Amino acid sequence: MNWNVWIRQVHRWLSIGFTLAVIINVLAMGLEKQAIWIGLLALFPLILLLLSGLYLFALPYAAKWRSS
Ligand code: HEM
Repeated sequence: MNWNVWIRQVHRWLSIGFTLAVIINVLAMGLEKQAIWIGLLALFPLILLLLSGLYLFALPYAAKWRSS
């Protein structure tokens, strides 16, 4: 599998993991439960989403730059 396609797939599936983590965070808030790990559950995939997202953002510009 192409490296760029692989990063896009990782970004897609991280977004599902992040969404689930946000739902868990909201439920925990409703139950008034507090724990560092519940917050980290969303923060960790968000950081990976940011990195893979910035990579995806740069792809079309890198392609244009290479072809010129
Ligand atoms: C945190 C910073 C994020 C950045 C910088 C970012 C950036 C991007 C970029 C540049 C693309 C490609 C757009 C394109 O050219 O088609 C993309 C696709 C996508 N992003 Fe993000 N994103 C971020 C976070 C998120 C989050 C929080 C979610 C959802 C929970 C998400 C879900 C998706 C999905 C589902 C796609 C489509 C993937 C595909 O084409 O298969 N992203 N994102």
